[in-house]
Amino acid sequence: MNFISMADLTYDDIIGILEMAEELKEERKRGELSDHLKNKSLAMIFEKPSTRTRVSFETAMVDLGGHALYLNWQDIQLGRGETIKDSTQVLSRYVHGVVIRANAHKTVVQFAKHSKVPIINGLTDIEHPCQSIADLLTIYESKGDFADLKFGWIGDGNNVCNSSILAGALTGMDVVVACPEGYEPNEAVVKRAEELGGDIKITHEPGEAARDADVLYTDVWVSMGDESQKKRKMHDFQGFQIDADIVEMAKDDVIVMHCLPANRGEEITSDIIDGPHSVIFEQAENRLHVQKALLIKLMV
Ligand code: CP
Ligand code: NVA
Repeated sequence: MNFISMADLTYDDIIGILEMAEELKEERKRGELSDHLKNKSLAMIFEKPSTRTRVSFETAMVDLGGHALYLNWQDIQLGRGETIKDSTQVLSRYVHGVVIRANAHKTVVQFAKHSKVPIINGLTDIEHPCQSIADLLTIYESKGDFADLKFGWIGDGNNVCNSSILAGALTGMDVVVACPEGYEPNEAVVKRAEELGGDIKITHEPGEAARDADVLYTDVWVSMGDESQKKRKMHDFQGFQIDADIVEMAKDDVIVMHCLPANRGEEITSDIIDGPHSVIFEQAENRLHVQKALLIKLMV
């Protein structure tokens, strides 16, 4: 099994992963680690920078008794033009799983086509499913359930937004995305989410996403690879910041989320990141616990 899109998982898969992640989180807090992935190796290919994804996957492998190899795309033969097909076939003979952070989603799909070991999407231009599955644990820990929660996204309809839409559809949350015109989430993803029974609303009015929200989420306005659009985006996203006024419109017990890295003072104000509604650093921690459960599901 591969994990390329949130839609690769069923509701039952998600609950199974979250339950295992909760156990692993408790065990680690008690100082207990178990060798679920003893003698297993994970290759991690990065075409873009990363802190959380890289460190949480590497730490997950070490905690579980296995080994992780960080491979910068430019430092391996892929960077000199060796084909994905050949590279994947070779890696499949060495390691037991591969995480890939790629510029183009189709790169990860191509890896999966030729791989004999599980392929995990570590972020592409279309999705960031490892983020969203970890975010579900954070929401579950705060709210105890998903059904009928209002998940309000304010900002760019980007990769994290797309995976959040699918995560919302799979778990029964009502998703409202508020983005400037022209920055809507991926149409095929929204269609897939609706096929999964999702209640997805796209608006250009931040207040609509914020009003009575249980969860408020944002991400950077300029994603990796979008740098050439920075000037235009900084102009177009004015009014789409999560600040105290927006949080005031949500439910009193709203949780505020951000996948990080954040640009404090752009898509979200510093007081909100560090404030009482924020679960942002819990989210970052949960990457580790949830990815452990995911690795065990895929590699054992
Ligand atoms: N949220 C996330 O994936 O962060 P990194 O880019 O640091 O991996
Ligand atoms: N949307 C951001 C997420 C980073 C984790 C990006 O793609 O740069």
